[in-house]
Amino acid sequence: MYNHNRLKPINLFEYEKLATEHLSQMALDYYNSGAWDEMTLRDNRAAFERVKLRPRVLVDVRERNLTTKVLGQKFQLPLLIAPMAFQCLAHPEGEVATAIAASKAGVGMVLSTLATKSIEEVAIANRNTNSATPQWFQLYVHKDRGLTRALVERAWAAGYKALCLTVDAPVLGRRERDKRNEFTLPPGLKAANIVNISGLNIPEQEGDSGLFTYFAQQLDPGVTWRDLEWLQSLCPLPLVVKGILRGDDATSAVECGALAIVVSNHGGRQLDGAIATLDALAEVVEAVDGRAEVIVDGGIRRGVDILKALALGAKAVLLGRPVLWGLAAGGEAGVAHVIEMLRDELDVAMALSGCASLNDIDSSLVVYKNYR
Ligand code: FNR
Ligand code: LAC
Repeated sequence: MYNHNRLKPINLFEYEKLATEHLSQMALDYYNSGAWDEMTLRDNRAAFERVKLRPRVLVDVRERNLTTKVLGQKFQLPLLIAPMAFQCLAHPEGEVATAIAASKAGVGMVLSTLATKSIEEVAIANRNTNSATPQWFQLYVHKDRGLTRALVERAWAAGYKALCLTVDAPVLGRRERDKRNEFTLPPGLKAANIVNISGLNIPEQEGDSGLFTYFAQQLDPGVTWRDLEWLQSLCPLPLVVKGILRGDDATSAVECGALAIVVSNHGGRQLDGAIATLDALAEVVEAVDGRAEVIVDGGIRRGVDILKALALGAKAVLLGRPVLWGLAAGGEAGVAHVIEMLRDELDVAMALSGCASLNDIDSSLVVYKNYR
């Protein structure tokens, strides 16, 4: 819980500071790092600062409606929690605490393949809240296709509502702090959905990040568009493809059956030098041309960032690191507070730009020069 001797954070950036007091150096570095020189990590934020708003005035904004549907599923905000590995590094309740906070707020959550709580535990935690908001499962395709198949089947059986395939990580990006720290999970923590099936855990490798080694050994860098058909044959869940930065790839994803696309550079953790996600958004939206829903992530830190993303054509956003900061500082309550602050900021931003509902957020609200 919050330390009440101190001031409660009033924005997401203050949670980042607070989180540093609750995390080991190894966990903090793992959470906050980007790849190599962290140019893309910084540019994700800078891109939001480049987009300017053209607010409308004298619109009746007494009532604001922030609810939406993504893949036909109802959410209280155009926001889902991004899939993020190893949340028990932040708090003993890890992904379970995140799931409860998300569910109570009516916000979606995408559970990582590399969660430290099981697929089933997280689904039950969600169901036990009164609101039970749809959860999605994020998939990493392992060389062991039997293991991969079992993950998908478990997610389907447990009631997840979409399969989110991450496509920007055939190998892990080089996060140099993790290499220096020889990142590994502390004793007692494990990738809960992997060990149960095959006895795998993150092996320690001297001089390297244990996660980098895990990816190199266990994940399949040979996955192509053709594998999407196989994946879709495993269960009837709608397919979401996460990690797209180009229009032509977005078109391929749609042609292979994706119903939603996440414009993402993995929070700047994979290819450093990759385009900022907000800069890639317009091209993807244009290529998709309404055939799928477009979601964006990377650098969302203010409610007004969500407004900008929606104005540029996104249906919703994923929220990454701030959730981990909230979790580290205050468990379920911390995550709930992070969501609540973003909601409040989006609500104010909508009122100030003449939008009573998310449908009113259109491209005329932003001044934006296409990147290309
Ligand atoms: C991630 N991300 C990620 N993505 C994914 O598809 N599977 C995963 O297991 C993880 N794990 C993960 C761990 C940590 C610590 C971070 C910070 C990120 C990427 C994540 O889903 C998302 O794309 C970015 O975090 C979004 O950027 P922001 O909001 O963190 O700037
Ligand atoms: C990461 C992986 C697990 O970004 O997606 O750390």
